Amino acid sequence: MANYSNIVLFGFMGTGKTRIGKEAAARLGLVFVDMDDVIVERAGKPIPEIFADDGEAHFRSIERQAVIDLSAQPGRVIATGGGVVLNSDNIRDFSQDGLVVCLSATPEVILARVEHDTNRPLLNADDKMEKICSLLDSRQVLYDAIPNQIDTSELTATEVVDRIVSLYQQ
Ligand code: S3P
Repeated sequence: MANYSNIVLFGFMGTGKTRIGKEAAARLGLVFVDMDDVIVERAGKPIPEIFADDGEAHFRSIERQAVIDLSAQPGRVIATGGGVVLNSDNIRDFSQDGLVVCLSATPEVILARVEHDTNRPLLNADDKMEKICSLLDSRQVLYDAIPNQIDTSELTATEVVDRIVSLYQQ
């Protein structure tokens, strides 16, 4: 059995990282960490306010520091924010000792999951579908480079967790 220090879930917004991460952590007796919660705690304000007051670059620098800190702490299932792949150092650090898995879903499934959400400033647009497709398009190559891929569109949460657990225990 490979000895991973952490399980790290990558993927676009709405691909199920938080839901799946919580369930995987519970199943494996690991601690669940949502990186967005860590960033909100460190910034002392919600994500839309960080973007509005301080800009995306500031958000990314808090995110980067969170990756450095979390990749050094074993025994966790980490749900990353969808933009963590934008900095290749983040992928490198998490891949060092962690099992890295990318969750994906079709744009239609993503839209259904995020449609009424106001907590994701990058999706604040009249035409959310257009925004999802253009962001996905610009990041696809980065998500595709993560070694383990699970399309969650037609799987139950239990089925997705089953796959992660089997990768972890391989
Ligand atoms: C972002 C995704 C969000 C959050 C922030 C930026 C992105 O996390 O980190 O709004 O750039 O894709 P989720 O993927 O958990 O929604």
